[in-house]
Amino acid sequence: MVKRIGVMTSGGDCPGLNTAIRAVVKSAINNYGYEVIGFRDGYRGLIENRFLKMKSSDVSGILDRGGTILGTINRYNPFAVTVDRDGEKTVRDMSDRIVETLRMHDIDCLVVIGGDATIRYANKLIEEKGLPIVAIPKTIENDIYGTDMSFGFMTAVDTATQAIDKLHSTAESHHRIMILEVMGRLSGWVALEAGIAGGADVILIPEIPYDINKVARAIFERRNAGKSFSIIVMSEGAKPKGSEGKNNVSNGDNSLSFNGTSAFLAKELERLTSLENRITVLGYLQRGGDPSPFDRILATRLGASAVNIIAKGEFNRMVCVDHEQIKSIPIKEVAGKFRTVPTNGEMVQIARYMGVSFGD
Ligand code: F6P
Repeated sequence: MVKRIGVMTSGGDCPGLNTAIRAVVKSAINNYGYEVIGFRDGYRGLIENRFLKMKSSDVSGILDRGGTILGTINRYNPFAVTVDRDGEKTVRDMSDRIVETLRMHDIDCLVVIGGDATIRYANKLIEEKGLPIVAIPKTIENDIYGTDMSFGFMTAVDTATQAIDKLHSTAESHHRIMILEVMGRLSGWVALEAGIAGGADVILIPEIPYDINKVARAIFERRNAGKSFSIIVMSEGAKPKGSEGKNNVSNGDNSLSFNGTSAFLAKELERLTSLENRITVLGYLQRGGDPSPFDRILATRLGASAVNIIAKGEFNRMVCVDHEQIKSIPIKEVAGKFRTVPTNGEMVQIARYMGVSFGD
């Protein structure tokens, strides 16, 4: 008989996290009479036992607010925590602390709201420590396997699309090539969907390594057709043919950083075309700000559904979107996998129909 649940947010933040927290807390308290313990800063708060007993009033007024009232931490592996003792760094498996914390609070199920790494660690906690967990998929990348959509994604697409709209006017005034670099790590969903929505002329994504000569040709073809400017949207993980992953910088902890993706393209395009270009790296504007109504609805549906499956005793599952229906899938089927752009999928085809070049 479930009486008390835990909830935490982990990984890169995104718009909609507070919406999801609100849905979990309100559903648990109002519909099932559960107590809810919130843990701060993802897995780190579970290890350090930093928590707060959550009341409905704690989630009042946060539906439309970006960020997470619980805090989060990115690139934090509870099975390999860097501990600094008097300047000497050691790496320790601190996962047993999580077991102790949940036992101390007498928590019947932990709700983790996170992306691929959070879900991968949750699966390890389930398989190696036998913890009962339910996951809610969140990320701006939309790269979580097993769900058609994660909340945070559409708000990031809105932000990137607005940026493309603004770049159009200055590109046209100065007859320039405008390069917009967006986030996405190893998946190109943000670039692809914002590029379609914003009418980009070139979309460069990790799934389709580009030929710089073909990008240059697309720009010249536009100029020959009388268009003196071009808009290029590129994922931070996009790469030229033959340089697989050159700009992917390993952080040494299963995560990657991406440096200079657009700077490399800009230099090469200047060399090949002698045309002026300018770069805009959208960066953390895609991670911040208030969630769009779409993401508020999705985060509310997923948060409430997570509590519903707990009430049915269906632990160790991730709630997901399956053809607009909210369902759930075993976490072990999700862990370690990614959802990348199908290079022959409908979205890529639509872009090509609109005359978009993918540099291939
Ligand atoms: O995973 C989301 C993301 O924003 C990536 O797109 C980006 O590369 C990374 O997180 C940045 O991580 P951090 O917030 O740790 O700088």
